[in-house]
Amino acid sequence: MTEPKPSATSVVPAVDRSGEILAIDGLKVHYKARQGKHPVRAVDGVSLQIRRGETFGLIGESGSGKSTIGRAVMRLVEPTSGRVHFDGKPISAMSRRQLKQLRRRFQIVFQDPTSALDPRKTIINSLREPLEVQGLATPAALDRVDLLLSRVGLNTSFRDRYPHELSGGQKQRVNIARALVLDPVLLVLDEAVSALDVSVQAEVLNMFAALKVEFGLSVLFIGHDLAVVAHISDRIGVMYLGKLMELGPTDEVLDQPLHPYTAALRSAEPEVVPPSDRVRHRILLTGEIPSPTHPPSGCVFHPRCPYAQEVCSTTVPEWRDVGDDRWVACHFVTSVDGHPHPTWGSPALG
Ligand SMILES: Nc1ncnc2c1ncn2[C@@H]1O[C@H](COP(=O)(O)OP(=O)(O)O)[C@@H](O)[C@H]1O
Ligand code: SF4
Ligand SMILES: [Mg+2]
Repeated sequence: MTEPKPSATSVVPAVDRSGEILAIDGLKVHYKARQGKHPVRAVDGVSLQIRRGETFGLIGESGSGKSTIGRAVMRLVEPTSGRVHFDGKPISAMSRRQLKQLRRRFQIVFQDPTSALDPRKTIINSLREPLEVQGLATPAALDRVDLLLSRVGLNTSFRDRYPHELSGGQKQRVNIARALVLDPVLLVLDEAVSALDVSVQAEVLNMFAALKVEFGLSVLFIGHDLAVVAHISDRIGVMYLGKLMELGPTDEVLDQPLHPYTAALRSAEPEVVPPSDRVRHRILLTGEIPSPTHPPSGCVFHPRCPYAQEVCSTTVPEWRDVGDDRWVACHFVTSVDGHPHPTWGSPALG
């Protein structure tokens, strides 16, 4: 017999879990620069959809705009332009009351396992807090919190411990349990395992993958490590300097990267690339990621792209549907089957 889902509350209205849960259209978030008059183009025209029940991975170097997308989805920052729809409704047009409701439905787990936990509260009290804040702390809901603790792999001896008595991995398990207390439909994990040791990362990821199915969650999983993001994601989007370079099903994107930036990330990942492939497709990234206050003209990747042509510095490549559920922004990739460029993948460029 399957155990009932340990939903902490039944007062939140049911959400239809078919189709897309989140749609981001032409999202731009430009911050006021701390110095100088040019804005920081943290996110500069991103469109993607998260399907119900899927884990969507967002990968890219530090500073590429991943966390800003997570924050815009949670409406913790206001978009400069573009739209975010949750369950078909525009987040920007929501009233304060609707937003409060929405915040229950969305939860976010950050990189630092410690900062989200009150050092003066026991683990069980930290887990109960979201229910108390929302006025949902019924005896039945509080009972289910214990069940949640066991679901994240922590036995009852952890109930009355304080955060400083837990390891980083255990604290992040508590943070995940805390994010599930209000029965969310969408979870944003922003570098949630990045601060953990590699072996602990794998344990927490595997535990989370099982919980995700059990809770019927949709997930935006943000990370800078391709192997980690790929391990857990159904589809991935590859960010560079505030824009998406490529998006598609994880296995296909890894097996056949269509964008030179994805190919470069992949060839830098020893664990996911067999040695023979690494030599054949090796693309070395040279130079620093440019400043988002002065992004390069045309294709933002052109100063670092080994395949750049004249058009790349003058014209922004279209965000193109290339078939097979894949999208790419490169002048030379027009279909999933077409050879992108005469020298693409050439060993001479390795
Ligand atoms: N509040 C802010 N004010 C100004 N610039 C910011 C702010 N938050 C982030 N940035 C800048 O926006 C860019 C994108 O940051 P972020 O979204 O955190 O990227 P990532 O998560 O991919 O590392 C970076 O250049 C960062 O320095
Ligand atoms: S558009 Fe040009 S610079 Fe950009 S990825 Fe394609 S080949 Fe490289
Ligand atoms: Mg970040």
